Amino acid sequence: MTRLPRHIAIIMDGNGRWARKRLLNRVKGHERGAETVRTVVRTCREVGVSFLTLYAFSTENWERPQAEVAALMTLLKRFLVGETEELLENNIRLNAIGQVDRLPGDVRETLAKVMSVTARNTAMTLNLALSYGGRTEIVEMARKIAQQAKAGAIDPEAVSQDLVARHLYTWDMPDPDLLIRTSGEMRISNFLLWQIAYAEIFITPTLWPDFNRDELLDIFRWYQGRERRFGKVTQPE
Ligand code: IPE
Ligand code: IPE
Ligand code: MG
Repeated sequence: MTRLPRHIAIIMDGNGRWARKRLLNRVKGHERGAETVRTVVRTCREVGVSFLTLYAFSTENWERPQAEVAALMTLLKRFLVGETEELLENNIRLNAIGQVDRLPGDVRETLAKVMSVTARNTAMTLNLALSYGGRTEIVEMARKIAQQAKAGAIDPEAVSQDLVARHLYTWDMPDPDLLIRTSGEMRISNFLLWQIAYAEIFITPTLWPDFNRDELLDIFRWYQGRERRFGKVTQPE
């Protein structure tokens, strides 16, 4: 595929509704959602996407019932352990963004292990947003820059868009070209607030557990037809 997005970000939403429609526990929806993650990672790797960022758990999601949070953490750990081999085989680097230190100790350890064994992989970065909040990310960036300014290491006049970007969790990645949200909600839910300034946005009514390879490929085709102007005008022929 040509004119592919280099970086895709996905708000994986609708697991709870998927389960509810079937009179199942929400956790069943999250389990099925994990299957979709596998499919989407494979498809992105196959077509040649360089960065895939998945919104897996937000800072606000900590306020869900404790049993659901615990189930999500268990699933996350299971996913990390279960996928390590495939990540290695496919030359995929795992990265995490967010307040990772808030995750339970065993999840943190597993995450660190998988990140370290895949650190040298170069074909694609699978970037998991875990305990991620866009506003928190911006606050942390401001704090780091303010501290450096106070220490005399940065001149306030030198604060630029580039400097800000280099102090975000995504400092080593390009901005997302394409943002997908499943399950039809027309909102951003505190995801990558700075980075999506010029992302093309695609919202599908499909619930995350029902999202599949064919729909993702259709969205790539839609993306290929987008005219990205970045605020400028297209020159007439
Ligand atoms: C997305 O599905 C998964 C997470 C937020 C962890 P939801 O759990 O938000 O599903 P809905 O929105 O209730 O259907
Ligand atoms: C966004 O979904 C967060 C994740 C996908 C992890 P939510 O379900 O938490 O967001 P809201 O509540 O619909 O805004
Ligand atoms: Mg939701």
